[in-house]
Amino acid sequence: MASKEEFIAHLQEDLAAEWAAVHRYTLQAARCTGLEGEVARELFLKEAREELEHALFLADVITDLGGEPTGQCAPFEVGQNVQEMLRINLEQELADTKRYFERAEEAEDLGLEDLEVHLEQMAADEAGHARTLRRLLGR
Ligand SMILES: [Fe+2]
Ligand SMILES: [Fe+2]
Repeated sequence: MASKEEFIAHLQEDLAAEWAAVHRYTLQAARCTGLEGEVARELFLKEAREELEHALFLADVITDLGGEPTGQCAPFEVGQNVQEMLRINLEQELADTKRYFERAEEAEDLGLEDLEVHLEQMAADEAGHARTLRRLLGR
């Protein structure tokens, strides 16, 4: 069972991963050019905004718990073409889904029930992103 300090440290890692997701999707959108790039571009911009919402939520939670939200961004890959971008994103979204289910369990252990529910919702958001990407990959 995670202590409150460990929980905050994990949330900081989550936040660094969300900053990375915001950067990744934004840069990918910028690299999608031409008519064929337009569908991916719209999707990536939409996801960038949703990841920013996640980042803001985590930053607020960390502040509420007495921490100072990190500005650090986890390392990330952008990809050289749309297929590669979709593959990178799918892998990352699946990892993020798992991460938020784990975090929801930690919140439950700490008796933070409202946060538990919200983190489960974030896991569902990431799983939804993964589903969209998988569809576009034709899997
Ligand atoms: Fe996210
Ligand atoms: Fe996501």
